[in-house]
Amino acid sequence: MTPPEYEYLRKFLRDHSGLDLSADKQYLIESRLLPLARKAGLSGIGDLVQKLQAGSSALITSVVEAMTTNETFFFRDKVPFDHFRETIMPEVLKARAARRSVRIWCAAGSTGQEPYSLAMSLKEMGAALTGWRVEIIATDLSQEVLEKSKAGIYSQFEVQRGLPIQLLVKYFKQTGETWQINPELRAMIQHRQLNLLHDFSQLGTFDVIFCRNVLIYFDQETKINIFNRLARQVEGDGFLVLGAAETVVGLTDTFRPIPERRGLYKPNDARSAGAKPAIAAAPPRTAAMAGLRA
Ligand SMILES: C[S@@+](CC[C@H](N)C(=O)[O-])C[C@H]1O[C@@H](n2cnc3c(N)ncnc32)[C@H](O)[C@@H]1O
Repeated sequence: MTPPEYEYLRKFLRDHSGLDLSADKQYLIESRLLPLARKAGLSGIGDLVQKLQAGSSALITSVVEAMTTNETFFFRDKVPFDHFRETIMPEVLKARAARRSVRIWCAAGSTGQEPYSLAMSLKEMGAALTGWRVEIIATDLSQEVLEKSKAGIYSQFEVQRGLPIQLLVKYFKQTGETWQINPELRAMIQHRQLNLLHDFSQLGTFDVIFCRNVLIYFDQETKINIFNRLARQVEGDGFLVLGAAETVVGLTDTFRPIPERRGLYKPNDARSAGAKPAIAAAPPRTAAMAGLRA
């Protein structure tokens, strides 16, 4: 790969997915894109770049998807899910007691382990949520990972990563070598393809946003831009949950860390008083909520 080809791909990826590659990641591009180029009948990266320049949209999607890192597992890092159970949901239950609804957005849900971990956590709360409208929206840039998330089918290896055995037995059905999460849990998640670089105001506002292990791949300016737009989508008393290597500190004051709750942030009052759009009209009830209704 020539230096101009590498520079073209760096800019292409920054523009299309936010991925910020340093100057020395040629090996990463080659390991992920050479197989893709060969599969497309191209001779190498140079050919691939030419096709991209010509605007082949199928290839654009494949290149962007091939360069995303989709690593995830059930109850990843554990602590955010402890916070969800012990801090976030008790507050939400109190604050939303009158309207009995909770909206949760998993902003880079990958193959589904994160949104399903949230869905299982909610189911484990039992009667506390009876009669509540519960929405979990899982979005991701990659259509491929969303399809896997929708299917909810995982290998033995995947269910052994982070998932307590009692939850596996309770919520999954084994078919041959794979495990599928039960239809009730699957129905709790709405899946949508969404690029965080693009406008997401149409999703409405949320009580809780999980946006974990995706902003680490972006440059500072992109992170700030996304944080500021996320601040408009979270309720004034809602929560933002970030990954272990991510923080708003030093980037924006639209959120503040919650002391002694690593990874948990609240929107700042100044922001709530600012240009926050009105709470989105509640969408119609869907089958997704059926599992949690009385
Ligand atoms: C490392 S995974 C994290 C999954 C999960 N949040 C977790 O913490 O386990 C990152 C996910 O972000 C998605 N992603 C990358 N760039 C994105 C973008 N610009 N908009 C939306 N999702 C993106 C990838 O497709 C991938 O599924």
